[in-house]
Amino acid sequence: MLPRQPLRYLVADERQRARCLQCGTGVTSRDEKEARARFAERYVVPTPLTMADIERRVLGEGKAWGVNGYTTVAQADALGRALELGPGRCLLDVGTGRGYPGLYLAAKTGCSVVGTDLPHEPLVAAIRKAGREQLESRAAFVAAGGRAQPFREGSFDAVVLTDVLCCLRAKLAVLRSLKRLLRPGGRIALTTIYVTAGLPPAARRRANRSGPRAVASRAAPPQLLASAGFVDIDEVDLTPEFATTGQAWVEQWDQNADELIHLEGLAAFGERQRGRRMQLCAIEDGLLRRGLFWARRPL
Ligand SMILES: C[S@@+](CC[C@H](N)C(=O)[O-])C[C@H]1O[C@@H](n2cnc3c(N)ncnc32)[C@H](O)[C@@H]1O
Repeated sequence: MLPRQPLRYLVADERQRARCLQCGTGVTSRDEKEARARFAERYVVPTPLTMADIERRVLGEGKAWGVNGYTTVAQADALGRALELGPGRCLLDVGTGRGYPGLYLAAKTGCSVVGTDLPHEPLVAAIRKAGREQLESRAAFVAAGGRAQPFREGSFDAVVLTDVLCCLRAKLAVLRSLKRLLRPGGRIALTTIYVTAGLPPAARRRANRSGPRAVASRAAPPQLLASAGFVDIDEVDLTPEFATTGQAWVEQWDQNADELIHLEGLAAFGERQRGRRMQLCAIEDGLLRRGLFWARRPL
């Protein structure tokens, strides 16, 4: 259920193409169509107890938030601090999936959150989760692609993206449009996987093949943030944790293979595990990295 009163002022500039969950998505580019189809497939599998259990073991929290990535609860807390969240602040969570980390941060810090993503399936799960966590009055979800966020300039105090930038081909264009949605002085924080700088061509190609679909980029995340007009850019390297969490996903899926194959199908299970193993090898060989980056819109 979408909130009745709060957050209405944020939604929606009708001239823009993204539309609300009830009306259908204004998918804007071939890239976004592809991403929507790919991730919709991934989110189709419900999150039964096994999935929740696996998530708790991999990411280290008493409660499962429907995570679809590598952002641990400790990392979500670090994002919340970097964004200076608290009661009265409004957060935009782009590529929120099933509402993570937006709902977690709303519960933890008292902020309000608007989550956006392309496929509808995870957003429906996020709305249900908001209800279960009694966050309806501080949470809203909108189906929208990275660049076409249907909100007015300066609507948000903070923007978060966890493991989303590496899924976007138009990284710079998305960051530029997110900067406009922040009030002056507002903050952005993100976790992302990226290719190690300065690799020889063959190693770079292997890194591009081993990471998420749009991991390839000429510029590193801090350069992208600077080019988009952000200032006070800072970062923490999360590569060692990336390897640990990646390994934990593989092990937990192996341990629960029978049930997951029953849920996902043998082919999808095999493909996910092969992808994860290939990515792990690339991390171990120093080809892929992951970091937490934060910055702010100039005053
Ligand atoms: C790895 S998942 C991360 C989900 C969630 N933030 C988390 O940490 O669990 C990446 C998310 O980015 C979304 N995504 C991919 N391409 C996108 C685009 N062009 N615009 C908006 N979201 C996109 C996917 O649908 C997916 O939910």
